[in-house]
Amino acid sequence: MAKIKNIKGRQVFDSRGNPTLEAEVFSENGSAFSIVPSGASTGTHEAFELRDKEKKDYLGKSVFAAISNVNNLISKGLKNIEVSDQTKIDKILIELDGTDQKKKLGANAILGVSMACCKLAAIEKKVPLYKYLSKNNDYLIPIPLLNIINGGVHAKNNLDIQEFMIRPEKTNSFSEAIRRSFIIIQNLKKMLIDTNVGDEGGFAPNLKSNEEAIQMIIESIEKSGFEPGNDISICLDVAANELKHPKTVEYFLNLIKKYPIKSIEDPFSEDEWQSWNKLTKSTNIQIVGDDLFATNIKRLKKGIDEHSANAILVKLNQIGTVSETLQVIDLAQKNNFKTIISHRSGDSEDTFIADLCVATKSSQIKTGSLARSERVSKYNRLLRIEDGLGKLAKMAKI
Ligand code: PGA
Ligand code: ZN
Repeated sequence: MAKIKNIKGRQVFDSRGNPTLEAEVFSENGSAFSIVPSGASTGTHEAFELRDKEKKDYLGKSVFAAISNVNNLISKGLKNIEVSDQTKIDKILIELDGTDQKKKLGANAILGVSMACCKLAAIEKKVPLYKYLSKNNDYLIPIPLLNIINGGVHAKNNLDIQEFMIRPEKTNSFSEAIRRSFIIIQNLKKMLIDTNVGDEGGFAPNLKSNEEAIQMIIESIEKSGFEPGNDISICLDVAANELKHPKTVEYFLNLIKKYPIKSIEDPFSEDEWQSWNKLTKSTNIQIVGDDLFATNIKRLKKGIDEHSANAILVKLNQIGTVSETLQVIDLAQKNNFKTIISHRSGDSEDTFIADLCVATKSSQIKTGSLARSERVSKYNRLLRIEDGLGKLAKMAKI
């Protein structure tokens, strides 16, 4: 198997137009690169994103220090390591950094390299990334959660809930899930005067309340000839860390009673463990920890022990390496937690998460609306994977 010859970092741009890091890894035979995403509603327990806060030429947002870490310390540290030895690569990266939150090298420097190594190893093995990442050649195509109305810190409107999503239920194929979503989004568009979109491609209208957003989505589902709750459910990401006016357990229980809501993410802020437990034991819908767990195995263990949720949102850049991400997914699945692989609000044309989802048999993927190419690229990648697998393509079930 090929060895790592050199690693190069460069500054490129994400979907919000902000600088981000791309890492390219070279072997004797070729190279592969990966682009690191970036969040807006980031939790305090996430791995550290290194930006040049003092430098004013990119308003403090450039990533040249992280790039220098890739080009020097990391490139030297990984030279001549087998490109397919992901465990060793990630172990060296973690040791080179030596801090809990990857503050020395920056999680952006580390993750870019970790993902690029993975992609290069797949190329060397001449297999698609999802096959390379899979433990036993068994795959599942995820159910998409499409964020069709954007609020919170992802839009300049008055909705404080960050994401209003639709989830197609019980479809036999991914293409059918996307077809239903397409029709609903087009019908919702017809109902709106302001069709501007937010960071994740969903519409970002000013509405009277969160409930009005939910009601509009229900109307667009019905106009499309589907039955809310049966054909299409509603899922929310409250992103409670960002709320000016926190919501109560009773507020959510009332919403669940009134509307066909099947999943709620981050209903409470990241350290409000008791409220999480109270809501999870009071309902049988999906309760998803994003900022709560921060893709961190220690936090997930606490959440499993305390029954704080029944699903985890997985974001590679919350933890910083592919191996640690795979370990978190494994632990979650062994404890019957659903795993939802997620983009960030600042994302790119990189489709790594689509392959990761299929390889880990995660039941769901969250990657925005059917708009903006950084979102659509993940759906297109899944359509390609489904097509490529042909009769072997199996759709996840909830
Ligand atoms: P972020 O949003 O990428 O801005 O953190 C996504 C989410 O909260 O799920
Ligand atoms: Zn979230």
